[in-house]
Amino acid sequence: MNNSRKPLSPFSIVIFGATGDLTHRKILPAFYAFAQQGLLPEQYRLIGFARRDWTDEIFRAEMRQGVEQFGRVPFDAATWDTFAANLYYHRSDFDQADGYPRLGELLDRRDTPATDNRLFYLATPPESYPAIVHHLGEAGLNHGQHGWTRIIIEKPFGRDLPSAIALNQQMHEVFAEEQVYRIDHYLGKETVQNLIVFRFANAIFEPIWNRNYIDHVQLTVAETVGVESRAGYYDTAGVGRDILQNHLLQLLTVTAMEPPYAFDAHALRDEKAKVLQALRPIQAADTVAGQYIGYRNEQGVAPKSQTPTFVAVKMYIDNWRWQGVPFFLRSGKQLADKTTEISIVFKRPPHSLFPLEAGEMLTPNVLTLCIQPDEGMHLRFEAKVPGANMQRQTVDMNMNYAQDFSGAPLPEAYERLLLDALQGDASLFTRADEIELAWQAIDPVIQNWENSKVPLFFYEPGSWGPYEAVKFMGEDRLWRGHCGDYDEA
Ligand code: BG6
Repeated sequence: MNNSRKPLSPFSIVIFGATGDLTHRKILPAFYAFAQQGLLPEQYRLIGFARRDWTDEIFRAEMRQGVEQFGRVPFDAATWDTFAANLYYHRSDFDQADGYPRLGELLDRRDTPATDNRLFYLATPPESYPAIVHHLGEAGLNHGQHGWTRIIIEKPFGRDLPSAIALNQQMHEVFAEEQVYRIDHYLGKETVQNLIVFRFANAIFEPIWNRNYIDHVQLTVAETVGVESRAGYYDTAGVGRDILQNHLLQLLTVTAMEPPYAFDAHALRDEKAKVLQALRPIQAADTVAGQYIGYRNEQGVAPKSQTPTFVAVKMYIDNWRWQGVPFFLRSGKQLADKTTEISIVFKRPPHSLFPLEAGEMLTPNVLTLCIQPDEGMHLRFEAKVPGANMQRQTVDMNMNYAQDFSGAPLPEAYERLLLDALQGDASLFTRADEIELAWQAIDPVIQNWENSKVPLFFYEPGSWGPYEAVKFMGEDRLWRGHCGDYDEA
């Protein structure tokens, strides 16, 4: 990864599924933010590819709405007009073979700013991936004559190990792995990248980042929203496929990996893959599944749905560094708070010099990395209360992004990842083997749910999920809540 970015070369991006939510909410606003910041080259083109009978003008008007509604940067009509002149629409069904040579002609057309650097973005339902990839190959669009050709695909990458292997094979029949960029937008979050800087640009944390000093690690991805308008997808995916297999495991790998020899796509992803390889098979007793009360009444959800909307899992990494250290991962919808955080809970001091009440123990130090929304870090430790006796109090040392970096708004994850893909840096994208290893770890958990081998606990919306998720952590361990502000009871 470069410290300063090289300017972008001319490019064309084709967005499959251009009429969908992701294009409106994330992809176009990201490109518009580039336009506002002067990051786009003189020649570039965004081509929307979808079934709807739209024209270039309709596409531009629709995208404008998306950018105005969801954009991170303030909307400016003059910037928009210049930007919108580079937007085109290509109408075709994804499985209609002749749509692809026609796309090729559009890409080759010289009356628009043309370029041989091509990025295909699959922002479609996953069922369409095989047809699109196949037809791109058949039309010879999988490689350019003079420039590069890359393809971004969105999660879910399959719905279990066999389907992920099949999908990887289909991709590899047409594209080389180096051309494939699998997005997990969590890796594009500033604070996740900061975890890498924090661990490997400081000398004081790595020596204690192991089983000798760490009691356990907690990873939380909590949401207050329910399934919203996505019940059709969610009810077949559940939290296991939606968050655990990807976002949570990616956070786990970045937290637990060995130092890569360099920040590059090979070194980094090799180390992440090694963590996944070392995961101990997850036992049924080490999982808690929950569903929020009212989920079955959501439109599009089966009335007797057994789909979990909450999960807590205890995982172990069988390697030298992490032997015996439990990693507790949890995620859920309709929880008390929207927060993504990682807490490293250290072992208690081996002996107390200070008088303790019966049953009292010294409070463990906790380092909490708050990924969102209050991006920052908190180190909890014990301090002496001023006064004549040796009274202790737990205090926090805080680093806060908004304060320490002069309140500059953090870029959207998609901005970072799109820039990386345009510049050929795959470090923050998931490699084929990582995807398969992640499914290998999570498949048995999902199978236990689907075969009703583990109970499904119901929880109140607005709570922290079923109490079983606290009980299973064992004595003296509590989830940290709201970016380390408190221990949840
Ligand atoms: C997506 C999931 O990948 O991540 C959604 O499909 C979830 O269900 C979302 O709401 C959470 O992302 P973020 O960036 O809001 O934490």
